[in-house]
Amino acid sequence: MGAVSEAESGREFGLLVLPGDGIGPEIVAQTLRIVTWFGNYLGVQFKIEHALAGGASIDEQGAPITDAVLEKALRADAILFGAVGGPKWDHLPRADRPEMGILRLRKDLDLFANLRPAVNFPEIVAASSLRPELVDSIDIMIVRESTSGVYFGEPRGISTDESGFRRAVDTQAYNETEIARVCRAAFEIARRRGGRLCSVDKANVMETGVLWRTVATEIGLEYADVELSHMYADNCAMQLLREPKQFDVIVTDNLFGDILSDEAAALSGSLGLLPSATLNMTDSNRPGRALYEPIHGSAPDIAGFGMANPLASILSFGMCLNYSLNEPAAADLLNRSIRLVLGQGLRTADIATAGDDAVSSAAMTDAIIAVLGEISVGSQRMRQA
Ligand code: IPM
Ligand code: MG
Repeated sequence: MGAVSEAESGREFGLLVLPGDGIGPEIVAQTLRIVTWFGNYLGVQFKIEHALAGGASIDEQGAPITDAVLEKALRADAILFGAVGGPKWDHLPRADRPEMGILRLRKDLDLFANLRPAVNFPEIVAASSLRPELVDSIDIMIVRESTSGVYFGEPRGISTDESGFRRAVDTQAYNETEIARVCRAAFEIARRRGGRLCSVDKANVMETGVLWRTVATEIGLEYADVELSHMYADNCAMQLLREPKQFDVIVTDNLFGDILSDEAAALSGSLGLLPSATLNMTDSNRPGRALYEPIHGSAPDIAGFGMANPLASILSFGMCLNYSLNEPAAADLLNRSIRLVLGQGLRTADIATAGDDAVSSAAMTDAIIAVLGEISVGSQRMRQA
């Protein structure tokens, strides 16, 4: 990654915004205030377009995402996604549910590398269910394959067998190209971080696991500077709880990545603070098509109150600054501002502990913008084109 810096000033950047359902629209609205701030700071002209996805799209357009929106997504420089789903649509058959919106975006845009950081924010270490000394400085990046595997494999379906019993089938399938490209993405990331990559599979019982391990090892030969290890997925689930600090980058398939990334997020204690990026990372120097979304879901129970934690969505835009805009210093500025605001004691309800007064989504964002203004003085890069 890197090397995207086009013209140094007057840059345009097309951002497709898909707020989705539940708290999605609320947190995305706050994030767009941060986008505006960085537009001024960096001299980038964000061309923002809104569209529907998930349940909102089902209600208005009869499908969790339309071809027209997928077209826009293909043309955008990046997508800012909120969250989808809610009880209103739970009765729908699987293929028509809001979740299909995000699955189709990943598949149709070929966003195969899903980057899910699990970091602990020392300011809220008490929110973890593990002892502080186990999690106080974890910094794990899970790279989850996100366009193949058992969530997409054919054949699949529920039918009735000869004895009249219902029978369900899902297919876990990977070809070597799919494994190789996500492993390569993970090696590239590991190379820029702690230099250690743990590939996770079930090679002891699954054919896809055997191929996964073989291909990961082959790709490893191209990355002599990265230390590659292998771990079974069940052991990894246990090791994440036992000694999470042993991990730097983890690469794994779609199903294991879905599960392990939730586990890692929860142990960090900061589910409401964790962002993600899903990239078509075919060229190590360019992130390619990219979608940024918080790891948490649509939280319908707290939607509409203006109390949701906007930080995961804001930090997802931080990943966009880093990967799609190639502005790591700006991403770092945003991270530092958030830490300072947490350090001041500001808490939304999800991360508040007894005795804290919880602030609204908007108040949290106000505070970040104020701190951004303070700590960027002197380094203002506003370039009037
Ligand atoms: C995630 C979610 C999705 C997934 C759902 C909403 C389809 O759990 O992004 O981890 O399973 O990939
Ligand atoms: Mg999940």
